[in-house]
Amino acid sequence: MKLWGGRFKEKIAEDMEIFNSSINVDIRLLPYDIEASLAHAKGLKKAKIITDEEFEQIERALREIKEEKFEEIPMVEDVHTLVEQMLVEKIGDVGKKIHTARSRNDQIATDERLYLRDEILKIIDLLEQLNSVLLELSKKYKNKVMPGYTHLQRAQPITFSHHLLSYVEMFRRDINRLEDSLKRVNVLILGSGALAGTSYDIDRMYVASLLGFKEVSLNSMDGVSDRDFIIEFLSIASLIMMHLSRFSEEIVIWSTQEFNFVELSDKYSTGSSIMPQKKNPDSSELIRGKTGRVYGNLFSLLTTMKGLPLAYNKDMQEDKEPMFDTVDTLKSCLKVFIGMLETMRVNEKKMEEAVKFGYLNATDLADYLVKKGIPFRTAHDIVGKLVVYAITKNVPLEELNIAEFRNFCQFIDEDVYEVLDVKNILKSRKTIGAARWEAEI
Ligand code: ARG
Repeated sequence: MKLWGGRFKEKIAEDMEIFNSSINVDIRLLPYDIEASLAHAKGLKKAKIITDEEFEQIERALREIKEEKFEEIPMVEDVHTLVEQMLVEKIGDVGKKIHTARSRNDQIATDERLYLRDEILKIIDLLEQLNSVLLELSKKYKNKVMPGYTHLQRAQPITFSHHLLSYVEMFRRDINRLEDSLKRVNVLILGSGALAGTSYDIDRMYVASLLGFKEVSLNSMDGVSDRDFIIEFLSIASLIMMHLSRFSEEIVIWSTQEFNFVELSDKYSTGSSIMPQKKNPDSSELIRGKTGRVYGNLFSLLTTMKGLPLAYNKDMQEDKEPMFDTVDTLKSCLKVFIGMLETMRVNEKKMEEAVKFGYLNATDLADYLVKKGIPFRTAHDIVGKLVVYAITKNVPLEELNIAEFRNFCQFIDEDVYEVLDVKNILKSRKTIGAARWEAEI
């Protein structure tokens, strides 16, 4: 069945028919198309465009269609055509009334919003699970010291939990962004018609409340041609993937024999077909890799939309694959990431040892000199020279004796050793948000 045969004399070319069809992709929207059709039918009933009996027939048929199990997806133009065709097969002429006061243009925008709202809630849930795993781990590794890096060079001592909690902050922002975006997803488009609204007296607020939408769109042309809500989702998804990817990169680095800070469980690693000894952190690598694909989806839709005159254009049918692929990719990455973290072995000893080498307490020594009345820049210079001296002796700063310290600065006393101690360094940090030693409760 075609929804538009009347105007045409010739049959569509076979290649064009296949080319034009989106059913293999938008079949995923079937439950949402049915939900929206049911709400629309209620709107038609309220406006007395269909009778109560007609509504009941439509409702029953739609519920049956929802339960339908397809062995093969019927080769029709799109999901909207499929639902209408099945409705007509079931209840004849009454089914043909469903499309009164509606266009596929306001229908698709509504279906997509219903779908995305559900998926955003599932993604928020996964991010919350991820954060609770991170919070558990940070409790477990509270006060376990490790080097903090800048330029991937050892910089200052931190705790492993401080490192983990930095990702909790990122994912919290991501949750906020998703929650905020729901305001713009939760808008009813039905009633916009093809582009100009409709002359039927449909109560849009009523239809919106049936579908749980908080608002109705205020301009019919914007309503049918707006895909900002999908692009916004794709950009938030890109940010989430960027966060997952940075974390994955760290896990890849930490899993090397050179670092050996963590070891992924066998469950989240794979081996080599030729090198029997290999155990590779493929879970992290794949998440890092899939980030590119999500960025690609964002760019794909931005580019699709950039030249489109108002209102609907068929180009917009291309919006679904990037949206579905991003939802699938993001959810699978989050699930694997959670499992990978839960089963990861942490080598606290290695982390602690790494803090001993690399002069991570040099900044604290400079701060010590400042407290003795030396301007910071001068203190920085003195400590720089001390570090060079210690490097030539191949010892950490705390292994220099007082006489050696005093060759560089006469104000250094015995109390310097307290200051150079990593635990004291972490205890001395005062600012909000600092990598600080947590008091035992
Ligand atoms: N399959 C179409 C899409 O996904 C539905 C809207 C079609 N509208 C139209 N006027 N041909 O965009």
